[in-house]
Amino acid sequence: MPLADIINTFELTQDQFQGIVTGFKQEYEQGLNIAEAKGLATMIPSYVTRLPTGQEKGTFLALDLGGSTLRVCAVRLLGDGQVQVDEIKRSIAMTDPLRTGETTAFFDWMVDAIDSLIKEYKIDGGGVSDPLAMGVSWSFPVNQTSVSDGKILRMGKGFELKGIEGQDLKTLFTDAFRRKNVNVKVTALINDTVGVLVAHAYSDPNARIGFIYGTGTNAAYPEQVSKMAKLDPIYKEQHQEQEMLVNTEIDIFGSDAYLPLNRFDRLLDANHSQPDFQLYEKMMSGAYLGELVRLAALELVQENALFDGHLPLEFKEMYSFETAQLSDLESRADDSIDSRLRHLQSTFTFESPASSPSYQPTEQDLATMTELCRAVATRGAKLAAAAVASLIEKQQQQQHLLEDQPIIIGINGSTFELYPQMPERMLASLSDWFGPVTANRIRLDVARDGAGIGGALIAMLYADDNDAIEQ
Ligand code: GLC
Repeated sequence: MPLADIINTFELTQDQFQGIVTGFKQEYEQGLNIAEAKGLATMIPSYVTRLPTGQEKGTFLALDLGGSTLRVCAVRLLGDGQVQVDEIKRSIAMTDPLRTGETTAFFDWMVDAIDSLIKEYKIDGGGVSDPLAMGVSWSFPVNQTSVSDGKILRMGKGFELKGIEGQDLKTLFTDAFRRKNVNVKVTALINDTVGVLVAHAYSDPNARIGFIYGTGTNAAYPEQVSKMAKLDPIYKEQHQEQEMLVNTEIDIFGSDAYLPLNRFDRLLDANHSQPDFQLYEKMMSGAYLGELVRLAALELVQENALFDGHLPLEFKEMYSFETAQLSDLESRADDSIDSRLRHLQSTFTFESPASSPSYQPTEQDLATMTELCRAVATRGAKLAAAAVASLIEKQQQQQHLLEDQPIIIGINGSTFELYPQMPERMLASLSDWFGPVTANRIRLDVARDGAGIGGALIAMLYADDNDAIEQ
């Protein structure tokens, strides 16, 4: 049975889940103990050692570059954990030449958006900050050397800007502000996961994990400064009693040793412009769920087990079937068969020889596609849960999670927020792992706008002592 065989390859057993949790916990320790961050760094220090209290006030700028969207915001911190956000969004299609062009052109494009925001919302910082302080939330790895400095590592998510690797992120912005005559300075650089955790801590100071499950995936948590080999010894000495948020870059974790890669994962990786990179992320994040379904569906079509052997146009090109379509299909689970079938028929187009009618998907095709999407997405949810479970266990070992208290995880990202049943599937998987008593304490809270608000909060927390904390 071709379908049963494919569904089977997307199962994740408890033993495999155990292997991933154990493997991730080992990689946290290895990453913390590596002194020098080279090309592919994990466990990256953020230099953020303070969390907001919720009482902070003022207006700060934030720029949030994700895999497919640029958001620039003016965040007004109103105190009592309340914020008001004015923002401008620009999307960047996967095929947009900006992604693979000149680095300066890309930074000019981002700074133009900031300029428009300042003009449109007449932002002047109320005299508190001149130039205006901006926090940058960067959804890509950066090797940080202070809260506002860091060298750009390999970007991923389809970004291949010319000569960007190894450049200082703040300097690239500072130069673009100068070129464009915009009066703003970068006072903080953060990974989006760090932003999510900080933003969530503004409304719930007990949050201990920041998690992103969107186009990409990643997590941040607080670690003891004394355990981080990457930090300069003098800095460590001065801050040894403190905790610092760590950007795990868990997306890069994993190897054949414990990731249960199936033939579709291997094919996706082999076809990818960055093979052998981010293997875990490629199995589960929003950038890839659609492609995994497409690759599995291609096999079914070839074996005449789907669409009666007809290949729809939507499956012809790599990445032409997107996670949003998967989610659309699954979100109709409770609709009538007729309406779901009509939807399937309108989703796929079949070319046919001039004289014959084109192929019409059947109820059987609907059942097959639905089952396939559910299998791929459910494995995604379980893989995300395995990362969350490993971080919870890590903090339990460090006795950071008090018995009987809620375990709060701030989560953000389109796959978590928009994919139907993703939160429920993750919670079910966490419950299978920890048992219902612990699972009942786990809260997967949506930290909306997390990266932007977090960026502004850190820009504010570090605006005054930027120089003081540099190494
Ligand atoms: C990718 C990036 C990482 C980011 C994550 C979520 O995995 O490497 O830095 O945090 O996506 O956006």
